[in-house]
Amino acid sequence: MELSAAIANRRSIRKFKPDQVSDDDIKAILAAARLAPSGSNLQPSRYVVIKSPEAKARLAEYTLPFVTKAPVIIVCCTDSQVWSTALARWTELQAAGAFSDNPLDVEKILEYKQRNPLDPETAKAYAWLNAAIAIDHMTLTAFDLGLGSCWIGILDRQKIKTMLELDDRYDVVALLPVGYPDQQPAARPRLAMSELLLKEL
Ligand SMILES: Cc1cc2nc3c(=O)[nH]c(=O)nc-3n(C[C@H](O)[C@H](O)[C@H](O)COP(=O)(O)O)c2cc1C
Repeated sequence: MELSAAIANRRSIRKFKPDQVSDDDIKAILAAARLAPSGSNLQPSRYVVIKSPEAKARLAEYTLPFVTKAPVIIVCCTDSQVWSTALARWTELQAAGAFSDNPLDVEKILEYKQRNPLDPETAKAYAWLNAAIAIDHMTLTAFDLGLGSCWIGILDRQKIKTMLELDDRYDVVALLPVGYPDQQPAARPRLAMSELLLKEL
């Protein structure tokens, strides 16, 4: 499918057929998330895949009812410990030649980063920003595979984290129910382009 068609025709799906999603499709969706860009290639996103009726029944207590009716739910998380490997990720980027045509004063950048570490709130927002890009890759890939999904921000993150026995280093960002759509929604309203475009200089 053309990317432009996927962007234009993807919808948030809130009603799923009971048909199972293949493991290959789940793998393809996660593979798309893996390829998403991230700041300084930090790659903070982590996932839990929920398929079992038992886990879904427990998850149902902490989110919207339709979510756990999907055959698969991807719990989208971030790992706060990626900051400890930030230098390694940066060095890999450099070794891969990411900056070879635009030489950077790496020493200066690293020195600046060390002198100005992000405060915890900004670091968390930065990790979530990266997670969001990966989630969007997943919604578009699901659509490309004939599947539906819906980004879920209404959830009890702390209770889900406890339920999944996730270490404190992980943050639950969003849920992504995935399944075959049992509805064909029309395009949802969007602001006019004239409202988005503040200036052209
Ligand atoms: C950050 C974010 C959080 C969202 N949270 C929810 C949610 O908790 N429940 C829900 O039904 N839809 C949720 N949505 C889906 C939006 O309602 C939906 O994307 C929007 O209405 C546009 O519809 P469309 O995705 O079909 O184009 C969320 C979307 C985003 C990006």
